[in-house]
Amino acid sequence: MGLKFDFNNMMEAFIGDEGIKESEIDALAFKAQDAYSFVEKHRGTGWLQWAELPYNQADVVKDILETAARVRAEFKNFVVLGIGGSALGPMAVFNALCHLRHNEIASEKGLMKFYVEDNVDPERMASLLDVIDVKDTVFNVITKSGATSETMSQYLIIVDILKKKCGKNWAKHIIATTSESKGNLIKLAKEEGFKTFYIPDGVGGRFSELCPVGLLPAAALGIDIIGLLRGASVMDKRCNGSDPYRNPALMAALTQYIAINKGKNISVMMPYADSLKLIADWYCQLWGESLGKAKDLDGNVVHTGQTPVKSLGVTDQHSQVQLYTEGPYDKVITLIGVERFRRDVEIAKGAEEFKDVNFLCGHTMSELINTERVATEYALTRSKHMNRTILLDEINAETLGELLMFFQLETAYCGKLLNIDTFNQPGVEEGKNATYALFGREGYEAKRAELEAAPKKQNK
Ligand code: PA5
Repeated sequence: MGLKFDFNNMMEAFIGDEGIKESEIDALAFKAQDAYSFVEKHRGTGWLQWAELPYNQADVVKDILETAARVRAEFKNFVVLGIGGSALGPMAVFNALCHLRHNEIASEKGLMKFYVEDNVDPERMASLLDVIDVKDTVFNVITKSGATSETMSQYLIIVDILKKKCGKNWAKHIIATTSESKGNLIKLAKEEGFKTFYIPDGVGGRFSELCPVGLLPAAALGIDIIGLLRGASVMDKRCNGSDPYRNPALMAALTQYIAINKGKNISVMMPYADSLKLIADWYCQLWGESLGKAKDLDGNVVHTGQTPVKSLGVTDQHSQVQLYTEGPYDKVITLIGVERFRRDVEIAKGAEEFKDVNFLCGHTMSELINTERVATEYALTRSKHMNRTILLDEINAETLGELLMFFQLETAYCGKLLNIDTFNQPGVEEGKNATYALFGREGYEAKRAELEAAPKKQNK
């Protein structure tokens, strides 16, 4: 088993009054069954098309592998232009499965350097242009809607530079990943003849890592994308059943749902591995954007959700853990541990005369990080703060696929338990529309008038 899920420290038996009683889980078995049946009934259709991605992409994967081999042979740099669900997954998988100093060793190892733009900070774009030569670079523009201002502005900047520097061959530097049926990017792709991959209609941005959004950048980096999909299918099959004691993602969702109802409004994601640091960023979007909703499916105003917070073990033991062990009982802390690190470093001898340092000598850094994780788990449990642990036997493409699918299923189940629309993002759309209006986009005049009529802020 590549991934183990341990929720004991969310239970009354381990943390007393702050914990969940077994009887509370039993009483909600019918709701768990309903959440499971909902996902099963709709998988592969509507907004649950992501659930079938491990099984239905043989042709796409073949095309991705061929394209990846071609771009590796032709270019030195792979740049993703995208934001949100079109950037967080590629960054998280890159960070998890490539060397932690990848770009520093890429040339020497014959690998492509990898960059994700993910913002419209002008200094970030200018800095990227300082370190890459566009002639050696392939740009993967990823936007499902083909309309996101951030991504389209990145695209326009790059196309202008490519046209100036690469002449008539500029279009071969662009690969578009977008909707097959809607948006501006697909129209541009057809007009300019870009190599194009499609984001299936029922795969939302934050559930898209296992489609071409994530698979193409990963394959270009030499990551085993077949292993990634295999891992996702392993987890999907493990979560086959409506009994939460046999379906880990369902138990995770159900215990989080109970925790939310007990006022645990914060979900801290704390991997104890630098390579999983960006998995916490990816999780924050998945959990926050999916569950943070004003209304439930019956139209009631609920303002529900659980605020995701990213944290890194052991680094944040020295900044946030004081709050987690002694602060309010408003959180569930998820520790992600790794049993076997891919590399280890021994802590050298040399402090024999200092007893309070010498105890470290002869141990390894993996022993130290894992011991500190267990110690934090102990401190959280002792102070009766809800915590749970996800343990990976090691970090590889398969276990990462398991982890991604675990969180996606947990989110889908939890959204159903909360009776909300897990797959929309009206709050994000509101912000996108306001940007269009403020930038004077045609068709957004009414929104602009609304914004201009808003009370003026007083600055002191
Ligand atoms: O999850 C989502 O749908 C969003 O966060 C999108 O990923 C994000 O807004 C980017 O959208 P797009 O891929 O259409 O550019």
